[in-house]
Amino acid sequence: MTSLTARDRQTELMDDPDLDPGLHQQALIGLRRVHWVSGTVSTIWKPIHQLAQQTPGTKLRVLDVACGGGDLTVALAARAKRSGHSVEISGCDISSTALNFAAAHAAAKRVDVHFFSADVLSAPLPQEYDVVCCSLFLHHLDETDAVKLLASMRNAAKRMVLISDLCRSRLGYILAWSGLRLLTRSRICHVDGPLSVRAAFTPSEILDLAARAQLSNSTLTRLWPERFLLKWSRE
Ligand SMILES: C[S@@+](CC[C@H](N)C(=O)[O-])C[C@H]1O[C@@H](n2cnc3c(N)ncnc32)[C@H](O)[C@@H]1O
Repeated sequence: MTSLTARDRQTELMDDPDLDPGLHQQALIGLRRVHWVSGTVSTIWKPIHQLAQQTPGTKLRVLDVACGGGDLTVALAARAKRSGHSVEISGCDISSTALNFAAAHAAAKRVDVHFFSADVLSAPLPQEYDVVCCSLFLHHLDETDAVKLLASMRNAAKRMVLISDLCRSRLGYILAWSGLRLLTRSRICHVDGPLSVRAAFTPSEILDLAARAQLSNSTLTRLWPERFLLKWSRE
């Protein structure tokens, strides 16, 4: 068993810009199953729904940063539609393969989502959103970029920032290694899942990064399966 005392960040296969689109799409389908098992959509939707209930009659604009294949983006839009609240969802990513996959998924689910291309580390996020959320991206970054991203999300969010990611732990590593072999045949997922846990932050490291990005009054909730949700609200 690998040591998980310190982060071990290695390039994940899905970050390869030359990754074969077919293998990339197979991995995105694997990731969709991971979200389903982890209940990620409910975790992120709950605080957005609460905010919508507190501000009736106001349209909420939500941005999903590094949205990948758009599973969460599309599922959030579907929840918003069902809830009857006025919530407009957008997603951005650097990968055109992921964005095309996401747009096709939104069309198949008949939800209205705006997807756009963005390198979120090289330019500030547009300051047009009430809620800015991000799932499974923070662990890809070194500390400097992680603080930069958190600060950029804080600047862009008029109301709330939500970060959902993995906790670096022995249990998380075992679950990622074994769970992904049960959930998908994607070799990209089999390799990237355990690598992601090794690169992930611990809850105390996340809270430290959040403080450095001036998200000091954040709350962190640990969730099944070795995930966390960091929530910051503008006062
Ligand atoms: C593991 S995926 C997570 C996708 C999605 N958020 C989810 O939870 O299913 C990480 C995503 O980050 C995207 N990404 C990597 N670097 C990026 C950057 N600099 N700007 C925007 N997106 C980036 C990748 O293209 C990939 O889709």
